[in-house]
Amino acid sequence: MMRDGATALASGQSDTTIEVTLPGRSYAIVIGEGLMASAGRRIAAALPGARCAVVSDANVAALYLAPLKAALEQQGIFLGEAVVAPGEASKSFPVLAPLCERLLELGMERGDCVLAFGGGVVGDLAGFAASILRRGVRVVQMPTSLLAQVDSSVGGKTGIDTRQGKNLIGAFHQPSLVLADIALLSTLSPREFRAGYAEVVKYGLIGDAPFFAWLEEDWGEIFSPAGLARRRAVETSVRAKAAIVEEDEREESGKRALLNLGHSFGHALETFAGYTDRLLHGEAIAIGMRLAFAFSTELGLCPPSDVARVERHFEAVGLPVKIAAIPGSQPMPEEILRLMAQDKKVKGGRLALVVVRGIGAAFVEHDVPLARLTAFLARECAAR
Ligand SMILES: NC(=O)c1ccc[n+]([C@@H]2O[C@H](COP(=O)([O-])OP(=O)(O)OC[C@H]3O[C@@H](n4cnc5c(N)ncnc54)[C@H](O)[C@@H]3O)[C@@H](O)[C@H]2O)c1
Repeated sequence: MMRDGATALASGQSDTTIEVTLPGRSYAIVIGEGLMASAGRRIAAALPGARCAVVSDANVAALYLAPLKAALEQQGIFLGEAVVAPGEASKSFPVLAPLCERLLELGMERGDCVLAFGGGVVGDLAGFAASILRRGVRVVQMPTSLLAQVDSSVGGKTGIDTRQGKNLIGAFHQPSLVLADIALLSTLSPREFRAGYAEVVKYGLIGDAPFFAWLEEDWGEIFSPAGLARRRAVETSVRAKAAIVEEDEREESGKRALLNLGHSFGHALETFAGYTDRLLHGEAIAIGMRLAFAFSTELGLCPPSDVARVERHFEAVGLPVKIAAIPGSQPMPEEILRLMAQDKKVKGGRLALVVVRGIGAAFVEHDVPLARLTAFLARECAAR
């Protein structure tokens, strides 16, 4: 459900509100430019009486914590801050425990809220902390990376990684409000922006071929901070994600699983690379989506011309498409398979994989022929 916000912003553009309608836990996702200045007012209106503990990472805090704090203090709702180190390694037990204790030390009560202010790492970590703190306090997501704005801040999946794999410890904990301020994306590094863009492309590849065609045509404008294309890309992505979450909040009917296109491959590669900046999440997903398309062709499902289009587009924007693009040591096919089997998409020893009949036509195959997957991975690992 979508409605245009009435608020005229400094840029002259109004904000957009997309509602996620779920039984007993509906919430609004507000998308706009310059939302940070009004964050205090918006949170106070949505969560009357709640004070906010801001969780952020050191990069985002250095850039934006002071103005955010001022906006919250104006409303008298700033409780304090907890700042973690940037990077995937913060989605871990050793960071979670002191974070929870810090939030308790700030004096968080059940009626207060955690304000997750950062990329997907902060969103997943802070959201999970909120889900277990005092048996659950509310969380407001204020995503600052492209990936977090188009994907991770919406839908309530929270969690941390372990040596065994990504996101294996976590909880569903829907936010009470999401504030996506597009202006904050201007300080994102080009590499991080590109990595987030992989998740934008995902929505086209899953179920919206015209959106993918528009991205092929106009991606250059999305990468430029000026102009409306960036905003349109974020809004289209959020609308797609919100609709899927409304239909299948807990990944039970299979609809939400489509969002995992490329993720079984990608998570395995990310775990192999050790969750470092050797391979960013979005980069792993770009390789993973290309692998999902190529494997679908191998299964006779997808025309090779669509694999070529996906490859061409990722290469045009500077995203990796081959396993060989991972710097340093290379994974063996058996290792990728073992890591894929750890992923949550394994049921009763059978691997379920999101595959495609073409661009915009993804579906879940519940019984992937493991011998074919093994042979496919062996060839992909050997390909330069
Ligand atoms: N919960 C979900 O549904 C879901 C969905 C997709 C991805 N994820 C998770 O999201 C994580 C990846 O998120 P990410 O790509 O945002 O990574 P991230 O949180 O590590 O952010 C990327 C980098 O950009 C910096 N940054 C963020 N915003 C900035 C800004 N406005 N200006 C300058 N620098 C900024 C961060 O400090 C960090 O160094 C992964 O852990 C992934 O598993 C979760």
